[in-house]
Amino acid sequence: MNQDEAKRLAAVAALAELPEEGIVGLGSGSTAKLFIDEVGALVRAGRKIVGVPTSEGSRKQAESLGIPLLPDVGPWAIDVTVDGADEVSDALDLIKGGGAAHTREKIVNYASKRNVIVVDASKLSKRLGESWPLPLEILRFAQHNTEKTLGKYGQPRQRMKNDGSGPVLSDAGNLIVDLVCDPIADPAALDHALRQIPGVVETGLFVQRADLVLVAGEDGVRRLTR
Ligand code: 5RP
Repeated sequence: MNQDEAKRLAAVAALAELPEEGIVGLGSGSTAKLFIDEVGALVRAGRKIVGVPTSEGSRKQAESLGIPLLPDVGPWAIDVTVDGADEVSDALDLIKGGGAAHTREKIVNYASKRNVIVVDASKLSKRLGESWPLPLEILRFAQHNTEKTLGKYGQPRQRMKNDGSGPVLSDAGNLIVDLVCDPIADPAALDHALRQIPGVVETGLFVQRADLVLVAGEDGVRRLTR
């Protein structure tokens, strides 16, 4: 099974976690995209699901599939959110933000009664930071001051577009910095420390925010719970 097949398997498995009707948070990234395709098929078949997108990309996809959406301003009472992750630790903490959407993803996660994470097995690590840098959303104002302070915790690297045409921006127009750090011993403490730095909008650390992780691999889909 290749990685794309595993992502699809995890995305399809998440459909069993949806309410018969209700409000569903729509994650971002390639695995969440496969999930949103499946939600679109359910809506076309008459299922009463209303979405809350976690990025402009997910919004556009959902709109193109005819999934009704709630307004951005909220307040929402989301039944379940299904989202991807870049890294999942043994403790089921997450690094997210590979798609620069982690601020909105975290807001939607916190507004959800339940959070289901869909990944292929390559995303599993013993400790966060073993295989993925930590994405941070920061303000452009005083960017270099913020980066200097971040240097206490790792090596900050501003994320640039692959074609070199400029910096990657979040949907809110902020910069993304990837913090290359050692494996993270205490994700909650690091998250707290980073969020105290003026100019840091949000971190990609999701500490104890996954109720269920669906991991797809050669042996099918495993269910990991806290
Ligand atoms: C976007 C995210 C994604 O969920 C994460 O990057 C995983 O993406 P993919 O499913 O493409 O591997 O956090 O900000």
